[in-house]
Amino acid sequence: MSQNVTLNIQDKDALELPVLQGTLGPDVVDIRKFYAATDMFTFDPGFTSTASCESKITFIDGDKGQLYYRGYPIEQLAEESDYLETCYLLLYGELPNAQEKKAFSGMIMRHTMVHEQLTWFFRGFRRDAHPMAMMVGVVGALAAFYQDSLDINDADHRRVAEHRMIAKIPTIAAMCYRYSKGLPFNYPKNDLSYTANFMHMMFATPCADYEPNPVLVRALDRIFILHADHEQNASTSTVRLAGSSGANPFACISAGIACLWGPAHGGANEAVLKMLDEIGSVENVAEFMQGVKEKRYRLMGFGHRVYKNMDPRAAIMKQTCDEVLAELGLQDSPKFKLAMELEKIALNDPYFVERKLYPNVDFYSGIVLSALGIPVSMFTVIFALARTVGWISHWHEMIADPNQKIGRPRQLYTGEARRDYVPVDKR
Ligand code: CMC
Repeated sequence: MSQNVTLNIQDKDALELPVLQGTLGPDVVDIRKFYAATDMFTFDPGFTSTASCESKITFIDGDKGQLYYRGYPIEQLAEESDYLETCYLLLYGELPNAQEKKAFSGMIMRHTMVHEQLTWFFRGFRRDAHPMAMMVGVVGALAAFYQDSLDINDADHRRVAEHRMIAKIPTIAAMCYRYSKGLPFNYPKNDLSYTANFMHMMFATPCADYEPNPVLVRALDRIFILHADHEQNASTSTVRLAGSSGANPFACISAGIACLWGPAHGGANEAVLKMLDEIGSVENVAEFMQGVKEKRYRLMGFGHRVYKNMDPRAAIMKQTCDEVLAELGLQDSPKFKLAMELEKIALNDPYFVERKLYPNVDFYSGIVLSALGIPVSMFTVIFALARTVGWISHWHEMIADPNQKIGRPRQLYTGEARRDYVPVDKR
């Protein structure tokens, strides 16, 4: 049923604005004609009330704690699917049948190697460079190596670039780690699963056999699934905005990686582990919590812009966290005990309960990644690896939309009004 809202603005005719309905989620007021009709802009810094685009990929209900990829609840995908199948779903909108699944996995795994010259690119970085700094640079540089897939108006080019991104991002992520450790790069092994291959590229050495542990592979695959997409978050919106100008997909993903790096977004699980180190031990928790309540700092890994109930990814990750700690016999390690103590206190403390601050996925994923032997500086890299399919799916959706326009927000200008230049000797 079509609906309108009527806006009464002083001294102007009433303005009728159409209300659009999605499949799920709040209706939206279509303000596209607002400026032309009123000579005014709308003001919404942080986009807290603004739907920036139409999308069919991912749905979140923050109040109910629901997350669906293409309509499928995240709990079912985390339990029954695997990361590559989830990639197919996000990219193409449907789960693959057995034949499609095999063909897609085979094709992605055949593209895991990077151009040999790209491996030399790393030598330009300092060994102590943050792996995310290398990721931003190397992913952006892919455009210089794969020039045969840069025409965004050609559907084949777009498809090849999308597959290349998904296939090569684990290889690049592992190279960032290996370079920072002074270890030789490992070539991919295409007979392994996507995630087992990533662990092989991370942890194998030329001097010993490496057999990925299936419990740990499954845990990491789950981390990949849970981080694969999250609708119009800051980095995805960055990818869309960069892509709206017609920039090539490698440059857009590099922009997304840069945005993800921030501690309020993808840097949170890294911040969780740093926080645990700073607190040191269970005895210091009470004093730390006092500082949080006095707003001197935040409890990292808690709170979410959208989820004002339990983050559904956090519930799955908590289960995975328990499995991994048990598999590795780490339940009694001081750091993990400290994390569990923080969780317990925060879930019962009125400060957090009243503000609906629950643990988010990053609280547990940081603990799992640390238990897997992945250094803290690599956490956001792992997030970027997993989110690449989400970014590329949104980029794909946007480019395929015939009504797509360059993104160009407006502003409320509060700077100086016009004034005349004053020569330097008169200032
Ligand atoms: N610790 C302590 N207090 C907090 C926290 C926290 N982690 N998060 C929010 N608050 C308080 C905040 O001080 C405010 O209190 P008051 O009402 O008294 O002023 C209230 O809760 C609302 O906070 P807000 O800043 O308006 O909430 P937001 O929706 O803008 O922030 C957030 C969301 C994720 C940036 C924030 O919760 C935060 O900084 N969390 C820690 C960082 C983190 O874990 N980020 C990962 C997000 S999940 C990964 C992803 O999806 O990208």
